[in-house]
Formats: sequence, structure tokens, C-alpha cells
Amino acid sequence: MKILVSDNLSESGIEKLKAVPGFEVEVNTSLTHEELCSIIKEYDALVIRSATKVTREVIEAADNLKVIGRAGIGLDNVDIPAATKRGIVVMNTPEGNVITTAEHTIAMLMALTRNIPQANKSMKEGKWEKKKFRGKEVFNKTLGVVGIGRIGRVVADRAKGLKMNVIAYDPYINEETIRKLGVEAVSFDELLSRADYITVHTPMTQETRNLIDKEAFKKMKPGVFLINCARGGIVNEQDLYDAIREGIVAGAALDVFVEEPPKNNPLLELDKVIATPHLGASTDEAQENVALAVADQVIDYLLNGTIRNA
Ligand code: MLT
Repeated sequence: MKILVSDNLSESGIEKLKAVPGFEVEVNTSLTHEELCSIIKEYDALVIRSATKVTREVIEAADNLKVIGRAGIGLDNVDIPAATKRGIVVMNTPEGNVITTAEHTIAMLMALTRNIPQANKSMKEGKWEKKKFRGKEVFNKTLGVVGIGRIGRVVADRAKGLKMNVIAYDPYINEETIRKLGVEAVSFDELLSRADYITVHTPMTQETRNLIDKEAFKKMKPGVFLINCARGGIVNEQDLYDAIREGIVAGAALDVFVEEPPKNNPLLELDKVIATPHLGASTDEAQENVALAVADQVIDYLLNGTIRNA
């Protein structure tokens, strides 16, 4: 069996794959799209993170491919219908980076509230701008969680530890389940109008693209803070820019962008925006977890036909 690892994967996952007798593992993280298309026919399995774009073209060229393993959650970089049409199983690892991403969300929430990135920058410029960086408390503030799946519910749990009031909107999870998390289930519009902070934790789908748009911003409390550690484009970037300029949004913390890395993104010019380069899942622990999980799942599928997280 030939396995191609085309994105950075923790060594433990690669070792696990290599340890299987009869498995030939190749790691090449610098392939162009054209190069990937021309070599993919040799491989039985492809292991990726988010950088490799597994387009229809790649899949159509993949004569022997049986499985695509994504170390991480989001599958928006894989053309799933094209893979399904060719009988290629697409698996992700939905558990391994949940805590890490939720912790990043909370870090962004606190950094935003206390102006930590801006104050840090100012200190390093030799300034002492105490007045400029006065923040707020998160205690007793209302956090609106859009999407209370695996990550959203860990965010909710940590926010409750900070004594925030947590409300959530999720059309796929019933009210009773949300209530059992100690969170109030609300409609989308109610969340928009009540939240002091809004954080999104949905996948990127046709339904969630531009979910937070001009119309949504109009329904928010002036002074709201917004956090997106899910996917760029769930929050419309131009509409967010306008909402900040109009004073509706007091600050935004963004880990994800429509274009990554962003090029000439005007949001990054605003002081009220703090940003990280898609670090949501970037911890030692999470990368170890997802690498081992994807290796296990790919091995299990190739050897036993067992499908997990497809
Ligand atoms: C994920 O979908 O797992 C995270 O966004 C991290 C990543 O893209 O690797």
C-alpha cells in the first residue's frame, strides 16, 4: 500500500503508518496542485491537513486512491461529492483538536477584551499607554455561541467557568440537549440581539457561508465583540469591516479568513481587529492527537475495511 502524506503531520502519525508491514509512506509537503494531480495515481491513501486542496481534478486523477484521511476537522478542502462518486472514503478526526480550538477561542476572547495584543505592541514600542487600553470584565456578560457541537460546547463550558452567561443557537441540536449543557437555547435573532460576545463554531457549508452578514450585524447590540475561530467566510469580511467602522462591533478576534494567508485584507488594518494565522488547532497535544487518530483510521480502513468518521 502506498500512502502519501502531503501536509505537515506530527511524526508520531507518520511513524505509526510506517510501522505497518507492507506500507510505503511518502511525505511531500511542497507539492503544487499540478504535481499532486500527476503523482496521485500511484497512491492508495492520501493523508492531509488543511493546506492540500483535494479538488475534483486531483480525485479524477487518483486511479488507485481508496481513502483520504484528514488530520483535523474541516473538510472544506476536499471535494467530497467527487470522492464519493469514485468510491473514495473521506475521513476526518473530529475529536483530537476540540479542546485546543476551544481554548484558543477563550484566549482570543480575553485578549480582545483586555486589548492584550495592542498593549503588547505598544509596550514593545517603548510606550506606557495605560488609559488607551482600558478593557472590560467578561464576568456576567452574555456569550452567544453559534453552533454548539463539539467545539462550541467546550467553549460554553470554559465561558461558564469565567462566569459568563451562555446562550446558544444551533438548529441541529435539540433544546433539551443544549439545556443539559447549562446553556440557554435561543433563536438566531435572539442570540444576535442579546449577546455581548458572539463566537461561531459551525462548519463552512452553503448554509453557514455569510451567516453573519450585514443583516445580522444590524440586529446586534452596539459594542458587541465577535470571535471567529471556525472558518473564514462564515462571517462576511466586508460586512464585518463596515460594522466595525459603524461602531456596531467593538472588536473582532479572527483566526480564520476567506483567503489564507490573507492578502491585503482591510480588516487587518483595523486596531479593533486582533488576528492569528489559523492557530485554532495548533498545539502539540492536538497535532499529536489528530496525527495518531488519522493514522489509526487509515490503517484500519486499508487493512480491515473499517470506516470511522467518514
Ligand atoms: C480543523 O479543521 O481541524 C482546524 O481548522 C485546523 C486545521 O485546519 O488543521
